[in-house]
Amino acid sequence: MPLAVWASELARTLLADALPRRWAHSQGVARQARTLAPILGGDADLLEAAAWLHDIGYSPALVDTGFHALDGARYLRDMAMADQPLCVLVAHHSCASLEAAMRRLDWQLEMEFARHTADLHDALTYCDMTTSPDGVVVTVEARLAEIVERYGADHLIGRFVAVAGPELRTAVRLVGSALGEERRLTG
Ligand SMILES: [Fe+2]
Repeated sequence: MPLAVWASELARTLLADALPRRWAHSQGVARQARTLAPILGGDADLLEAAAWLHDIGYSPALVDTGFHALDGARYLRDMAMADQPLCVLVAHHSCASLEAAMRRLDWQLEMEFARHTADLHDALTYCDMTTSPDGVVVTVEARLAEIVERYGADHLIGRFVAVAGPELRTAVRLVGSALGEERRLTG
């Protein structure tokens, strides 16, 4: 069974009933991941699996620290017995290390889920940052503006967007360029 099929079922179990909007978003992020398949080679299945699972840390069933990237990655490692590359992608999705620093969990995140190469992380950022909360394809600018509006500029997440915005925009631009040029990103 492809990893992405297993991941979609796990994400459905954790999100569909409890958090329908997150589930709609996750479905949209997975759709975006599939559009990247031509430039991901052998990593396409792993990337789609990470897209399905990147936000499971919001599921009430597994919230622990309240930092969804870390909670999701720990669940995958400890309960779902997922392989390390998938756990690391979820742990670090969309510049999570910057949010971890604001929550004083950066050391924990890095110790448990050491980040590898940047390309797949950029690919996952592209998928997440071009998908609205309802699962619709949007620009990265619209995506970031919606997050700040939803949480408020003074909220930790609003401040995270101010800090991470340049890195998030760069990742989206790099992956978008590779896709436009049909240039292989990984694998
Ligand atoms: Fe997301």
